Amino acid sequence: MKIAVVGTGYVGLVTGTCFSEMGVRVTCVDVDERKIEALNKGIIPIYEPGLETLVHKNMKSGRLHFTTSLEDVINDVDIVFSAVGTPPDEDGSADLKYVLDVAHTIGKHLNHYIVVVTKSTVPVGTASKVKTVIQQELNQRGVDVEFDVASNPEFLKEGNAVKDFMSPDRVVVGVESERARKLMARLYKPFMIVSDRLIFTDIPSAEMIKYAANSMLATRISFMNDIANLCELVGADVNMVRKGIGSDTRIGKKFLYAGCGYGGSCFPKDVKALIKTAADLGYPMRVLQAVEEVNADQKLVLYRKLVDYYGRDKSQLKDKVIALWGLAFKPETDDMREAPSLVLIDLLLEAGATVKVYDPVAMEECRRRIGDRVTYCTDMYQAADGSDALMLVTEWKEFRMPNIDTLLHKMRGRLILDGRNILDGEELKLAGFEYHCIGK
Ligand SMILES: NC(=O)c1ccc[n+]([C@@H]2O[C@H](COP(=O)([O-])OP(=O)(O)OC[C@H]3O[C@@H](n4cnc5c(N)ncnc54)[C@H](O)[C@@H]3O)[C@@H](O)[C@H]2O)c1
Repeated sequence: MKIAVVGTGYVGLVTGTCFSEMGVRVTCVDVDERKIEALNKGIIPIYEPGLETLVHKNMKSGRLHFTTSLEDVINDVDIVFSAVGTPPDEDGSADLKYVLDVAHTIGKHLNHYIVVVTKSTVPVGTASKVKTVIQQELNQRGVDVEFDVASNPEFLKEGNAVKDFMSPDRVVVGVESERARKLMARLYKPFMIVSDRLIFTDIPSAEMIKYAANSMLATRISFMNDIANLCELVGADVNMVRKGIGSDTRIGKKFLYAGCGYGGSCFPKDVKALIKTAADLGYPMRVLQAVEEVNADQKLVLYRKLVDYYGRDKSQLKDKVIALWGLAFKPETDDMREAPSLVLIDLLLEAGATVKVYDPVAMEECRRRIGDRVTYCTDMYQAADGSDALMLVTEWKEFRMPNIDTLLHKMRGRLILDGRNILDGEELKLAGFEYHCIGK
């Protein structure tokens, strides 16, 4: 089988690479010439565990190719995946510009039957728009070519993307023809050897499943953050509460961790988009509005704790040196889209503090985003060196057991703010630090 994957970002590159690993001949397409040029040289534009090895292996085997020209490959494939970005528009709705651009290109060049599969996260009704655009282009050319559209939302997690794609909890495919269903079932067959986790639905349901899933996960996080903030007021410990409720099988243990807010390329924009879709139809998504509000506020929590420490006087932050451990929105990725670190950096700089940062992989990405407004450090202890306070923002493994003697020796102040509840507070307090975390 031959496929093309359009959009070679986190989702497209992982999708294309994993299909090629299963024996499919894949061409990844992107409009970004520099990205494609780099990939053709074996340079991977993102950090994702295990991805680089797989890309190199499958390029070498001749199953994985990269190009900027969709028109060159469109008539040599059975399926085209569209995995381009769907960033939020100004009003919060998903911007479908790139998705529809791809549909136009397909319609302009298609000469044989294919299935056009949308993998990007798109609002209900998008596959139908894609179909209309392709058909209009075909009509304009005066050609009669059969094609199907399908929806195959992606559930991979950045930082674990290859594993998630290779062993998915489920694969959701929305189809409207038996021919497309059969082709998609064949494509995913190698992933279903151990157990069949392929769920076929109608197209609107597949499109909705992705938004509902991300909104549910974001809701769990905001709910736990709300509970954590209340725990602080009533003298309870959110970690104990988490264990106590997570052991109820109806609730489950995952995604119940309090912290300094969720970020990333998906939750914030997908929650916004679902609220907007509903609002356009005259229905207010009250729960999700609260989820967003709690999250925006939670990104300020570490800053508020810092200001409280200095007598609730933000002017005290002037000339203080604050170390930030972690920049990426979560561990095992260099993605900083909507990361809480960005909010904190802005607030700290605005208050006149000097900010020293360290992240195992997101330093370049941070520099690309905010330039030299902060001091980039080569390791976590260099960031702590001379700092008045330390904020742990991303729960990278290497931050879990810091050398306390080194911290005592290097830090000027004694305040540690743990935004992910991963440090041993008792040990730090015994050593003389003032330790604060979330929900305790
Ligand atoms: N990142 C994730 O963890 C994740 C997970 C599940 C779903 N999604 C969804 O998948 C989609 C893609 O997300 P991403 O994080 O991979 O985005 P990304 O920004 O990393 O990549 C998108 C790519 O599409 C390319 N592109 C744009 N227009 C194009 C065109 N007309 N032709 C060819 N290429 C084009 C861009 O140059 C870019 O390389 C989004 O809808 C997102 O919501 C993302």
